[in-house]
Amino acid sequence: MSESTSPTAAGIPLQRLLLQTADAVQAVRQGRSLTDVLARCPRELRPGTQALSFLVLRQLGAAQALRRQLAPKAPPPKVENLLLCALALLWPADDPPYAAHTVVDQAVRAVRQRAAPSAGFVNAVLRRFLREREALVQGLQRDPVAHHNHPQWWIDRVRQDWPLHWQGILAANNSRPPMTLRANARQGSAAAYQARLGEQGMASRLLGERLPQALLLDRPQPVSALPGFEQGAVSVQDAAAQIAAPLTVAALQARAATGQDLTLPALPPGARVLDACSAPGGKTAHLLELQSLDLLALDADPERLARVEDNLRRLQLQAQTRAVDARQTAQWWDGCPFDAILLDAPCSASGIVRRHPDVRWLRRPEDIPQLARIQAELLDALWPLLKPGGRLVYATCSLFRAEGQDQVDAFLQRQPDAEAVECAGLTGHLLPVPDNGSQDAAGQAVPLDGFFYALLLKSPASTR
Ligand SMILES: C[S@@+](CC[C@H](N)C(=O)[O-])C[C@H]1O[C@@H](n2cnc3c(N)ncnc32)[C@H](O)[C@@H]1O
Repeated sequence: MSESTSPTAAGIPLQRLLLQTADAVQAVRQGRSLTDVLARCPRELRPGTQALSFLVLRQLGAAQALRRQLAPKAPPPKVENLLLCALALLWPADDPPYAAHTVVDQAVRAVRQRAAPSAGFVNAVLRRFLREREALVQGLQRDPVAHHNHPQWWIDRVRQDWPLHWQGILAANNSRPPMTLRANARQGSAAAYQARLGEQGMASRLLGERLPQALLLDRPQPVSALPGFEQGAVSVQDAAAQIAAPLTVAALQARAATGQDLTLPALPPGARVLDACSAPGGKTAHLLELQSLDLLALDADPERLARVEDNLRRLQLQAQTRAVDARQTAQWWDGCPFDAILLDAPCSASGIVRRHPDVRWLRRPEDIPQLARIQAELLDALWPLLKPGGRLVYATCSLFRAEGQDQVDAFLQRQPDAEAVECAGLTGHLLPVPDNGSQDAAGQAVPLDGFFYALLLKSPASTR
């Protein structure tokens, strides 16, 4: 989901967007993904509703705590969700998205349309918040859910996994993500595309030799404004996600667990590669931009797999695609082993919360062991399909260790013919914080989504 810049850019009254946003927030609180909700939103209201929903979901912990203080008895959902939206928009005193009186006025008008008798109540609650803001905000500093805007179990897990970085991670999750592009290596270098952007007045930064196709835009843009987008010159993809394809097919300098340095050659043209969980196809396309491959792209979700095909068409690339459960290898594997496998496994998405601010409110603690079980099943099912001497890249956009390092450590215990090798800056847990260790050639920090990568080599002597 790329983030639009201004909620009311199209001149739509705020009260209309507030009504749509309240419905979206209610749906998320009932367990529906914001992406699905927005897909059903009227087209002209979608960008504004998305922008407002993002703002509200990043402040939802604080807004819920305020509502409990200001109105201990919850009003009916259609009123409560409007109230939460207004409180969330009023909360950031230092950089408010709208003037306070505009929010109050528009929220009260919106309530009149939904539940007229509650308009006075909402007006009174919002005005009381403005009068007592300082004391209320101060009081909520001691409430971790209100302060960090994440559920308590999520805060506890991040704190346990990252005792030194947990606060920075939670803060980063509430920031606006940068817009990062991937120049299509088949059509030219990132520097050449930077020049094309410059001709259109769009400033950008190259992200260094570890991310050779990546460009960071100074200001997010609609994709339709990007030169050559329709012709496949460029794709939108976070810098961390741009690590998967080179790790799977490019020449690499790596270090074995013994400390020995290794040089891994690039895969030759025509190498047989499996992208086991491919939709919507960002990494599939990147693999094919780097090398001509005999590529099989799977995904369990046929609707999502159709998006892989759309992406490949735009980028003028080809792969075989199949909508199957990758774990059911008897149903789809032809018995011919793969030179390399990319397993970008389903996960909690805890690393990409700044792009999907609904995720933290949707997940439940019991989802994590369940996802970890599916990841382990995928790893175990796919490992026998890899040639001796081949490489498997295991990736998740999660920063929970259960879905990253712990998962791989357990796999290595189960598979004696597997070895994990390190590639500096590319493997291990990558954190979405400024001091994440990733820098460009000029020494500037590279902003990354949270990700985990493991590069697993199969012993050349393996008989399995
Ligand atoms: C993290 S996303 C993949 C993102 C994709 N690699 C990209 O870069 O655009 C995980 C995908 O795994 C798919 N998936 C989940 N379980 C699966 C399974 N058992 N077999 C194959 N695909 C599965 C989901 O439908 C989802 O599209």
